[in-house]
Amino acid sequence: MVAVQTYAFDRMLSCHLLTLNHSWIRSFILIFCFLIPKRMLRYLSITFSAFLFITLPTSAQSGRIPVTADSGMVVTSHHLASEVGIEVLKNGGNAIDAAVATAFALAVTLPAAGNIGGGGFLVYHGGDGHVTAFNFREKAPLAVTETMFVGPDGTIVDNANHEGILSVCVPGTVAGLWLAHQRLGVSDWEDLVDPAIALAMDGFPSSRAMQPFLTQLAEKSDSLYMSTRHAFLKDGERVYEPGETWKQPDLGASLMRIRDEGHDGFYLGETARLLTDFMAQHGGLITMEDLALYTAEEVQPVHGTFHGHDIYAMRPPSSGGIALITMLNILEAYDLESLGHNSAQYLHLLTESMRRAYADRAEHIGDPNFNPDMPVDRLLSKPYADQLRASIDEDTASPSDPSKLGHIYLHPESEETTHISIVDADGNAVSLTYTLEYSYGSQIVADGTGFLLNNEMGDFNPIPGDTNIHGRIGTNPNLIAPQKRMLSSMTPTIVAKDGKPYLVVGTPGGRTIINSVMQIILNVTIFDMNMAQAVEAPRIHHQWLPNSTRFEPWGISPDTRALYEAKGHQVGAIRTQGRAHSIMIRDGLLYGAADSRSYDGRAIGF
Ligand code: DON
Repeated sequence: MVAVQTYAFDRMLSCHLLTLNHSWIRSFILIFCFLIPKRMLRYLSITFSAFLFITLPTSAQSGRIPVTADSGMVVTSHHLASEVGIEVLKNGGNAIDAAVATAFALAVTLPAAGNIGGGGFLVYHGGDGHVTAFNFREKAPLAVTETMFVGPDGTIVDNANHEGILSVCVPGTVAGLWLAHQRLGVSDWEDLVDPAIALAMDGFPSSRAMQPFLTQLAEKSDSLYMSTRHAFLKDGERVYEPGETWKQPDLGASLMRIRDEGHDGFYLGETARLLTDFMAQHGGLITMEDLALYTAEEVQPVHGTFHGHDIYAMRPPSSGGIALITMLNILEAYDLESLGHNSAQYLHLLTESMRRAYADRAEHIGDPNFNPDMPVDRLLSKPYADQLRASIDEDTASPSDPSKLGHIYLHPESEETTHISIVDADGNAVSLTYTLEYSYGSQIVADGTGFLLNNEMGDFNPIPGDTNIHGRIGTNPNLIAPQKRMLSSMTPTIVAKDGKPYLVVGTPGGRTIINSVMQIILNVTIFDMNMAQAVEAPRIHHQWLPNSTRFEPWGISPDTRALYEAKGHQVGAIRTQGRAHSIMIRDGLLYGAADSRSYDGRAIGF
């Protein structure tokens, strides 16, 4: 009841803010004020209205109040990219068009994760009920071998699967955006790449969020390629100060080739030549043949249900969709609302669901083209979740036992990836997550290209058979092979109700992604939070191995933590989790929430 009242209040306030967006209503209010006969009252009314118009010029997100709009919404990790997307929508583009333009813009304004040198997934749910997805995960080059990173003593030498030129896989982003546009876009391709070119060529204010990376670049000159320094430092030497204009002419030129030649402007021709020359010169593996062979693919998202909602999320090579639906299936049978949000008992049930879904992730999931027998349908089924639930003790934590699988290593992951949520005037929704893997990927820019390359090789299981309690995973489905896509946790998701998109959710955060998305869905569907409240609420993470739970700072009270630990759980890291830019569509209004965990994130609607 309380939740419903809160929601009603937020909605009232949101509608008020939305009303103020319409200039004809503003004009009407002002004219009305001028007509008030009593002079004192007239002056007071005009002053008050003017104050309102200036201080609340648009429906702006404020803490736990989402941005509201009725015709379109774009939420991303960089305000300039959100603006690019919203302009596309205003000019008659659809959600796919806006996603393409926004993703290219982020490749310029958010180099930590926005990219053309990485890969990702896009899930689409049309207002007309059409549901599809695009897989543009990177692929391993032809020259890889299963044990290429294993040294003579059986360990990985110099973290080479994560760092250095061998960590780079064949990028997928341009192919994915091109394919999605070919299938569903309505705007001219050129018009969608042009805004990113302008941002690269004319420059934009360098962000404070980039400062640690830039400082590190400036200090680490020996171990970095000059091409990276030239792309990110002024004259290859000096850190751009926050607010200083940063231009990227090489990136602009790469984007122009993409604008003019589409897919081929990246995978063939000058960009491909620059990239492969650099690879050949520095001992990398990617060849012209690797680039020419790369294709993105259109696939069906995996589907599940949760309390009358339809869940559409990414299928393998992402583990996200399957693990998300497994966990929701397990949790559906509990009365979570009565336990209370983030109570110890609630966190216990979440943790036990996470433990089971992540064990299955390690055991079964990888690139479907290399794992034809993956039990996708079984993992998604309700009877299977019933079995998993039956093994949960409601009072005591279960063990995480790697011996069941032989050998498992979950390497530590960075938190960089980025998520875009978009809804257009026809109710078409796009949920897109893409990544370079680490923050700034491999930190390698090939001479003359201006864009960062991924280090996605690190998402393969590097040592066959090596699985242990510290989290190393060496299971078969995700071993390295030529042309294979590495396992991912990215979970772009659309929740639908009555055949229409209801929630558009996703986030960065490595393996935490799946758990963040799940908790946001629970926050809305079980606890009736509005979109911003659901995104802001503290989250937890457990991934089977290592057997410890991650809390967010100030997320869970000490007494709740004590009750939780008394059940046998161990709390490990305390870290911020994800940047889950999300949209809710409810009663014809769009509610956008940029996660406040993101420095430059912005929800913009119109
Ligand atoms: O695909 C994956 O699961 C990882 N490469 C994603 C990495 C990530 O999310 C890191 N940061 N947020």
